[in-house]
Amino acid sequence: MRVAVLPSADEAERHVAALFAAQLRRKPDSVLGLATGGTPVGVYRALVAAHRAGEADFGKARTFNLDEYAGVPPSHPQSYAAYMRTHLFDHVNLSPDRTHLPEGDADRAEDACRLYDALYRYYGPADLQLLGIGANGHIGFNEPGFVSATGGTQVVRLAESTRRANARFFGEGEQVPAYALTMSAGRILQARSIVLLATGAAKAAIVARALEGPIGTDCPASLLQLHPDATVVLDLEAAGALAPERG
Ligand code: F6R
Repeated sequence: MRVAVLPSADEAERHVAALFAAQLRRKPDSVLGLATGGTPVGVYRALVAAHRAGEADFGKARTFNLDEYAGVPPSHPQSYAAYMRTHLFDHVNLSPDRTHLPEGDADRAEDACRLYDALYRYYGPADLQLLGIGANGHIGFNEPGFVSATGGTQVVRLAESTRRANARFFGEGEQVPAYALTMSAGRILQARSIVLLATGAAKAAIVARALEGPIGTDCPASLLQLHPDATVVLDLEAAGALAPERG
């Protein structure tokens, strides 16, 4: 794994956005794997700015998101579909039929997973996959101990720590969904290139565990050590617990 440590979160986000813009210039019909959550907001902001500056053309690209909450329609403000529209899709030249997320509110979530996985196998794998990391080491919503190397897209139960962490995005009295649809770790690892972004001191311990600890399903992000082309982009705070020669 390559590790790039940037002085600030802002610079780390812009560094990742530049990797995506460069990917689009190199291969305009790239398949981009996208993530949600707090971490990539600045990446999407920088990508929108790059698009406005004529440096990122999404016209021929296709996107696949990692995950979506189960039981949440795309119109719900906390759905990942709404997040993507707010932060990226509404501001760049990506036509809706080229953007894909698992259908969170499908009557039968397992069928929605199968369909999503078939689409990903048809168009994918991602040329460049963006990842964040949960404080418990999850990637996508592959929670510690529930990692499938062979499964496609799956319905998973969210860890209580994940639901607590994500409560900050939901209104008072609103429940964080208990389940989600997520690409499996095995699918994620099929991406040609992966860039994981982590910023802030709260991620320092898990980043060190993922990069320097043993590979194991107790820390799903540690599986990235197996990937031939994975880059981890950190700000100084998130790099704070790495061994001195790295951080
Ligand atoms: C989001 C996702 C998650 C997040 C992770 C970190 O699509 O798959 O793995 O990347 O929960 O979230 P933040 O960035 O909010 O700390």
